[in-house]
This record gives sequence, structure tokens and C-alpha cells, in this order.
Amino acid sequence: MLTTSDQEPVAARSRGETVQCSEVDPGSHASTAAELLRASWAPPCLLYSDPYVKWQLTFPGPAQARAILATDGARAVGFVALIPRSIWVRGRVAAIYVLSFFAVHPEYRGAGIGAKMARLILKTCNRPTLTYADVNSASEKALATSAFARGWTFKRIAELRTYGFAGSGGHRDVPALARQATVEEFLAALDGCTSTAVAWSRPTVEQLEHYVADPRGSCLAIVQGPNHVTVGGALVVRSQVVTAHGAESVPSLDAVFLNGTPAVALAALAAFALNRWPADGTPVVTAPNLQTVQADAIRMAGFRATRSTFNLSVMGPESDPTVRHTTTTNLEVF
Ligand SMILES: CC(C)(COP(=O)(O)OP(=O)(O)OC[C@H]1O[C@@H](n2cnc3c(N)ncnc32)[C@H](O)[C@@H]1OP(=O)(O)O)[C@@H](O)C(=O)NCCC(=O)NCCS
Repeated sequence: MLTTSDQEPVAARSRGETVQCSEVDPGSHASTAAELLRASWAPPCLLYSDPYVKWQLTFPGPAQARAILATDGARAVGFVALIPRSIWVRGRVAAIYVLSFFAVHPEYRGAGIGAKMARLILKTCNRPTLTYADVNSASEKALATSAFARGWTFKRIAELRTYGFAGSGGHRDVPALARQATVEEFLAALDGCTSTAVAWSRPTVEQLEHYVADPRGSCLAIVQGPNHVTVGGALVVRSQVVTAHGAESVPSLDAVFLNGTPAVALAALAAFALNRWPADGTPVVTAPNLQTVQADAIRMAGFRATRSTFNLSVMGPESDPTVRHTTTTNLEVF
């Protein structure tokens, strides 16, 4: 997800009345969802290819992925999904959901369909749920209203900005090398992520194996400094975006974790990403979530802020530790 443009709602209220919302098996509705998502987002945005959407909707986890499909007769007009992820918050691993792939066809907007789907999916949701949404957007409103209706809290916890790396920066005099890591090496490196202020992405082995099966191209990377000490890592993804000029592949850093010398490690990860998946046009690496990295380290590594931002929010019972303690996360944005 890069940016949203909420188009003019052209739906008549009456149109919403003929729409049915029901729970569906996410994986077997992936093509329908992908087609709807492609019709719902204006560039620049992620490319919602059928294989990518299917991969996300079949993401494994202790909690099963779930989805609501809205239909008007035989026509699919709305979709929303809960996708499982695992995070580590204050010494405890929590199985959570990320609510995403939330879309209503432009011809049906403003008729309450988004709000109805949000209400339905959250009504029986039994996990704390994170979501990324544009500030004051229809999706934020629909989700906040639905969370409150369920007796949950809806808390905006951070504004995430997408950064772009244009191939310079970093302390070249400090040696650090990023390389592809095995699932075991990556998991061992995650043990260093213990700052209690962050909800750290902490995938299970099964989830890591799924991450590297991302049809767009993806690998796990760690950065090693002097004496082969691990000073960071990230999920390196060949993300696909749609711009005004068509579809493009852009290497991207997700689930970034850094310690010790963050600017050096971040620059090493960007260089690795560029080398692994050279960009189609200008060599750029994007990083949609550097929330856990200090601003000066981001700048020194050669990353610059883009205009793309979104709110990270958490929904759940106020008493839930994940809801109470999550102030930010390094989880990937989707
Ligand atoms: C977000 C989206 C799914 C909402 O679907 P929808 O059926 O149009 O939404 P609803 O008619 O149920 O309206 C939901 C709320 O947003 C408000 N709203 C509707 N259109 C709006 C707009 N253009 N801007 C701001 N608020 C808007 C409604 O008043 C309602 O608020 P309320 O619950 O306080 O009354 C739809 O706009 C969409 O597909 N957008 C593009 C994709 C996207 O941004 N997805 C979200 C990513 S997380």
C-alpha cells in the first residue's frame, strides 16, 4: 500500500441495499479479491496481482486468515481480510491480525458497505488487530466505529512514512556486510530485538518459510559487522508497484531491525537489496516502515522521506497487553 485516493462515491444509497456481505474462505477468493483491489486503488499503489494476493490470504499462523466478501448479485463489490502475524511485545509473543485488503468498488462507495464489512469482520475477531490506513480516511472511520461498536478500543499509535534510498550515504569506513540468511540465522538474529517500546515482528518458522515463498521475490537478510557480529537484518522484498507509467519492481526493506551502528547496517541492507533485485528504472530502495530507526541514522544511511504516509492503529480490548503496550512496530506494511 502506498497511497489511497478515495474517489467520489457514485453509489446511490439504494445500491448498498442490494449488497450482501458474508464470510468466505480467503484463499479460494484470492482472484476475486485481487481483481477488486486493482479496480479500487489509484496509482501509485501496490500491484495486487493474483499470486501476491493469494500468497497473503494463505499466510499461515496460529490464527487463521479470515475474509468478508460483499456481493451485488454475482458481482463482487467489496472485500476485507484479517491476515495472521506474530509479534513480540514486552517479552511475550502474541498472535495478532493485520486488517488489510479493505476495498469497496468505486461505483459502490459511500453506501455503508465498507462500514458493514468492517463491523462483521471485527464482531467475531478474537485477536488484537493492527491496521494501516490513510489519515482521516473512510477506512479509518469505518474501522474505528466498528471497533467501538464491539466494545474495543481503536488507538492510532504512529504515523509511518515511506523512505527511499537513492544509492548513497552510510559510513563506508565501518565494515558491515549484508547477506542472505537462512530461516535459522534470521530467527537467531531476532533474539536481539528486545526493546520494550516496540512490537517486534517475530514470525514462526512456518511464517518465515512462507515469507520467502512470496511470489514477487523475497529473501531474509542479516548484516554482520566486525567479527561477524550480527548488527541487523530485514526482509528484502521485490515489491511491485503501479505508477502513472505502469507496473514496476522496486526492492524494498521490510521488518527492519538494527542495533549497534544503525546507519551502517541500514546502508548495507539497501546495497544488498539493490544488488539482489536491481530496480527497473532509477536504482531506488523503498522502506515503508523505519519507525524503529533513529531519524539521523536514516538520513546518514542515504534514505530520504517520501510524501507517502499512513497511520498505524491497533484495535482490541483495552486490557489486552498488545493493545496497551504497542507504541510502534517494525512489522511490514501491507
Ligand atoms: C475505505 C473504503 C473500503 C470504504 O468503503 P465505503 O463503502 O465507501 O465506506 P462507507 O460508505 O461504509 O463509509 C465508512 C465511513 O467513512 C466515511 N466516508 C465515506 N466516504 C468518505 C471519504 N471519501 N472520505 C472520508 N470519509 C468517508 C463515511 O461517512 C463513514 O463514516 P461513519 O462510519 O462515521 O459514518 C473505500 O473507500 C475504498 O475502497 N477505498 C480505497 C481503498 C482503501 O483506501 N482501502 C483502505 C486501506 S486500509
